This record gives sequence, C-alpha cells and structure tokens, in this order.
Amino acid sequence: MRERQGKRGLFKRFSDSRFAWDVVQGPVYNRLIGGAASELYERFVDSVSPPEGSRLLDIGCGPGHICLMLAVKHPTVSILGVDYSQTQVRAANRLREKQGITNCEFVRGDAMDLPFGDTSFETVISFASIKHWPDERRGLEEVRRVLVPGGSTLIEEADSAADYEDLQRFYQRFSAWWVYGRFMDFYLNSVVFGRSVSMKEAEALARASGFTDVSAEKVEGWPMFLLRFTR
Ligand SMILES: C[S@@+](CC[C@H](N)C(=O)[O-])C[C@H]1O[C@@H](n2cnc3c(N)ncnc32)[C@H](O)[C@@H]1O
Repeated sequence: MRERQGKRGLFKRFSDSRFAWDVVQGPVYNRLIGGAASELYERFVDSVSPPEGSRLLDIGCGPGHICLMLAVKHPTVSILGVDYSQTQVRAANRLREKQGITNCEFVRGDAMDLPFGDTSFETVISFASIKHWPDERRGLEEVRRVLVPGGSTLIEEADSAADYEDLQRFYQRFSAWWVYGRFMDFYLNSVVFGRSVSMKEAEALARASGFTDVSAEKVEGWPMFLLRFTR
C-alpha cells in the first residue's frame, strides 16, 4: 500500500491542469490505458443501469469509450459526456462519428462548475476522473445539483489504499515497451494512486456533499473502488 501524497505537489498541479490533458496526458492516456482498459470499462458499464428514456451524464469522459459503450447498450438513453480538455472532447467526437452513434454527445465543461441546469440527469457517472479534480467535494456537490431527486451516481476511481499485488498487476498490464519502466512507476504512483483518494475517503466525501445513501466496494482484482449513491 502506498501513502497518499496529498493534492498539492507542483507536478500534481501541472498534471491535473487542462493544459496537461490537452497536450500530454490525454494523448498518452488514450493510447496506453484507454486501449488496454476494455475489461475494466466493460465491468463498469455492466454496473450502470439507467432507466429507459432517461438522461445520463459522464463527467471526465476522456476519449468517450464508456459513453459509447453505454449508448450502444441503452439506445433509448440520451448520453452526454463532459470533459474540460478540448483534446479529449475532439477524440470522443471522432470516435462517435466513426461508430455512427446518435444517442450520445460530447461537450467541454469543468467538473467544478458543470455547464448544465439543476436536476438535468437521472444518472451521473464518472470513471477515473475525480482524483484529478482540484476540489472533490465541490465536484460531488455539482453532481448532486445536476441530478434529479432519486437519481443515481456511480463513480469508479483508483484506490490510494489499494493492495500492493493489485497495483503490481495493474503496472504490468499497462506498461508498454515505449514507456520507460521507472517513469511509469513514478507516474502511476505520483499522479494516479498516490494522489488519489481511498475508498473510505471517497465515501466520507460523498456524505459531506449531502448524499445519504452511500455505498462503496472494491473492484475485485483491480486497485480500484466503485462508489454508489442516490440523491
Ligand atoms: C484518467 S482520464 C479518464 C477518462 C475516461 N473517464 C476514461 O476512463 O477513459 C481523466 C479525465 O478527466 C478529465 N478531467 C480532469 N479534471 C477535470 C475537470 N476538472 N473537469 C472535467 N474533466 C476533467 C481529463 O481531461 C481526463 O480526460
């Protein structure tokens, strides 16, 4: 288990910036992780069950894989992916056009100040994004604002308190020959897991943001947790 290194380091602040996602992290993440994470995406998509004809928002949608998988699986649901990186929104739109999917859109917007009215969605999801938000609690309050009463949320995130074995398996799975091993180790520790929240911290943050019906579980075999709550 790694110790959480806090939110404030200079490298962390740079790597969480929109500029970093536009120029470096977006393209690297999308090539390295996005392509290799299909098993994880499928498991997450299977846990989401939006009502027929409802509206679903994915915050920090990145290159859009999860939204597009959900759009195919739930053709009556209107899906909206939001990300603050223009590079990511462009990548997601390209993929959507390529797949010819019509019940899904991608727009630019910040999790700290979502560009949507109150009670706009029946379901809100987010995958591997909250650890990059400068203020997780504020982001969760935004989730609460845009959800309809009774609406549900599913958040999957890297667990800063993950087992060492799960972390090792994760490193090996996502390393690539063209990425220097020590850099990958530093990156995953410093930017991903070491700076993320633990499952317990995420539960507490959801409660502090006004959600009562909060539950969390470990994703078996992965250094991730799944958090669910209802407004
Ligand atoms: C690790 S990627 C995950 C992308 C996607 N959910 C996936 O699993 O493929 C994190 C994403 O969160 C986005 N992000 C980070 N901070 C954000 C913020 N404050 N508002 C909106 N998006 C943000 C980044 O641009 C990036 O695309």
